[in-house]
Amino acid sequence: MCGIVGYVGKRRAAPILIDGLYELEYRGYDSVGIAVSDGNTTKIIKKTGRVKEIESAREETGYIGIGHTRWATHGDVTVENAHPHTYKNITLVHNGIIENAAKLRAELMQRGEKFYSDTDSEVIAHLIADESCGDLLSAVMRGCGKLVGSYALAVLTEEEPETIVCARMRSPLIVGKAKEGLVVASDIPAVAEEGAELYSLDDGEFSRLDGKTVTIYNAQGSEIHKEPIQFDLAEGRAEKGVYRHYMRKEIDEIPNVLSDSTLKIDCDSRFSDFYRVLCHAEYIQIVACGTAYHSGLCAKAAIERLCRVPVDVRIASEYRYADPIVPKGTLLFAISQSGETADTLAAVRLAKRKGACVAAIVNVKYSSLTRLADHVLYTQAGREVAVAATKSFNAQLAVLYSVAVVLAEIRGKRAPTLNGLDKKAKRTIGISESVRSWVPYFVGAQSVYFIGREADMCTALEGSLKLKEISYLPSEGYAAGELKHGTLALIGPYTPVVAIITRRDIAQKTMNAVHEAYSRGAKIFLVTCFEEFCEEKEITAFVLIPKCPSEFSPILSVIPLQLLAYYTSVARGNDPDKPRNLAKSVTVE
Ligand code: G6P
Repeated sequence: MCGIVGYVGKRRAAPILIDGLYELEYRGYDSVGIAVSDGNTTKIIKKTGRVKEIESAREETGYIGIGHTRWATHGDVTVENAHPHTYKNITLVHNGIIENAAKLRAELMQRGEKFYSDTDSEVIAHLIADESCGDLLSAVMRGCGKLVGSYALAVLTEEEPETIVCARMRSPLIVGKAKEGLVVASDIPAVAEEGAELYSLDDGEFSRLDGKTVTIYNAQGSEIHKEPIQFDLAEGRAEKGVYRHYMRKEIDEIPNVLSDSTLKIDCDSRFSDFYRVLCHAEYIQIVACGTAYHSGLCAKAAIERLCRVPVDVRIASEYRYADPIVPKGTLLFAISQSGETADTLAAVRLAKRKGACVAAIVNVKYSSLTRLADHVLYTQAGREVAVAATKSFNAQLAVLYSVAVVLAEIRGKRAPTLNGLDKKAKRTIGISESVRSWVPYFVGAQSVYFIGREADMCTALEGSLKLKEISYLPSEGYAAGELKHGTLALIGPYTPVVAIITRRDIAQKTMNAVHEAYSRGAKIFLVTCFEEFCEEKEITAFVLIPKCPSEFSPILSVIPLQLLAYYTSVARGNDPDKPRNLAKSVTVE
């Protein structure tokens, strides 16, 4: 993953780089560094840890520089492995993975070249330096020609003291003009400001920022022209306000996000083109990763029940290597908050080659997925800063359930309404604050289990993922009926088991699993919309959520689980916004 940023212009580069890196921390935060040049010498400051570790570098002079915040792929988290990397006259920052790095490194070492880090990125600096010919752009183009893998690069050389050269292959990169200078970054918020003119590079493209002009080249080296990105400054801004953490704030934003993300066929232009596609949909595939995969599972449960259209949900990283069967007429939904998840993008490329029509459900505008897909349905979650996805999950569900309702209507079936879910979500958040009293049972647990059936099982999976990613407690989400086929062996005295029950006709079946777990000593916590189960003697504590159509219930029932994860994480002394080892946008395989 990693985030990169660069500036050349009339302002001092260091503060711009550091502020930009704070905006990119969601892409990785295990080490950080900047290189700043005053035209004669290039100074590199790098540290392990987060961006705040290089705050003192703000004072560095120099009007050109590049910066990097790292999520380790090749090499441990050390100062040596932190970026920028330098070789001879070349200094660069890199986001991506170079798959032939080991082979290239061995060749370069055989020629006597010395390496100071374990990274694949240092290899790129060598390749470019070896191609140096007095023209940085040509050297970068030739160097990149030897790379296999993914990269977003920003490269400096002291020989061209007002130039940054950039390259993109399967890792996002924005270039453009800002106040009194030129900029490059992995993402818009790092460089967006009033009056900025930004362009998104596509795979295989290069750009030269040379003091006053931004020039973009295609893979053949010909100059090309692009339309600037229409970004909304307010949308990109995220403030914690009175909240201690972004995650808690983002949960509170769910009601608004739901009303903004719910699509209405009669008045929503987002549906106009796509409607024809839905009219012919006989078979649907869904690819996604992480939380987005769970929203895909929820969508399958709703679409199959309401529309009787078969839906296959696949983990994108598996799909891409499975030689998937894509029958003629397949409609494939790719779900992604960031629109940059490498595995999801690769799955989409493959599905397109096999003839699928691809509809993206995505939150970030101008992301790579929006450019790859045939149709785009935006979720309106706004910027999500916390690494653990919350409001974007609910927004994905709002869009997917809207699709389910329309598809049901097309197929002459009755579907329940999505109206009022925003208000119910607001009530659910208020009611769910009571999960704070559950935390003592979870905070020291050896393992935690979430169980449910059908749509409730999808919620269980997401509740479990939330808890493990930010509290670091081992946890599993399970189909309630599967408990007795293995997992029950792990349940003993005081093991917390969270049961989700929102579908009347199978509620008692899940209660059977609750009885089985309780008999082995488990502490049972219940999320349900049925009052009668809350009073059963097995239940240690419950959250009684508002009733809603059971096909759509995950949109509400996940909320207490998001809050449970949040409060457990805080109680364990973790930073829920930046969990260890994780990043929000996973642009590597
Ligand atoms: C990472 C994030 C998860 C996210 C997943 C998919 O693992 O930490 O929160 O669900 O990527 O990301 P996407 O942007 O494609 O939804």
